[in-house]
Amino acid sequence: MVGHGVFDPVAHLSGIAAADHLAAQDWSNVRVLEIGTGCGLLAGVLHDRSAQVTAVDISAEAVSCARSNLIDTSVDVRESNLFAAVVGESFDVLVINPPYEVGRSRNPTLRSADLLSRLADGWTDVADRLVLMFPTDSEDLLDTFGFGVDCTARIATDGRELGVYVATVVDR
Ligand SMILES: C[S@@+](CC[C@H](N)C(=O)[O-])C[C@H]1O[C@@H](n2cnc3c(N)ncnc32)[C@H](O)[C@@H]1O
Repeated sequence: MVGHGVFDPVAHLSGIAAADHLAAQDWSNVRVLEIGTGCGLLAGVLHDRSAQVTAVDISAEAVSCARSNLIDTSVDVRESNLFAAVVGESFDVLVINPPYEVGRSRNPTLRSADLLSRLADGWTDVADRLVLMFPTDSEDLLDTFGFGVDCTARIATDGRELGVYVATVVDR
């Protein structure tokens, strides 16, 4: 179920592509933070693959929708602007399929003016590994924000090609 005003992973395809990619991996006992969970699709897939999942979204509608969709799981869904609700906690992996439109879209589920720069600056404080989905035609933006990620997979969709970008903290 995708509530009104919540990012629809079927309509936008990237959510489904990301879900299929994550579902093909073993996440047993991995502590995952998913940021921007929307309807909770990725969090649900990760949970089904045996991850311990905390999922956050800035949108109250998304949080309500995700909680409803994940009611029979142990996924911890919180309303949070980026890391605000997980301060002091740590995770093995941070997974994010972020809004792609930096300042262009009127739809708040599709854009966040400063999400990418704050994510680039702060993700190593909460996780050892970052898995970031982003359209390959805009990957230059990731360099602009200083992510230092490697593209580990390119996923064809009916729309834009989706890249899976990964970075790992080497010295903790
Ligand atoms: C592209 S949607 C992805 C939804 C879902 N993960 C999926 O793949 O179907 C991006 C999500 O990020 C959320 N978001 C935007 N800015 C955010 C922020 N600063 N902190 C947390 N979530 C944010 C939006 O509300 C939206 O649900």
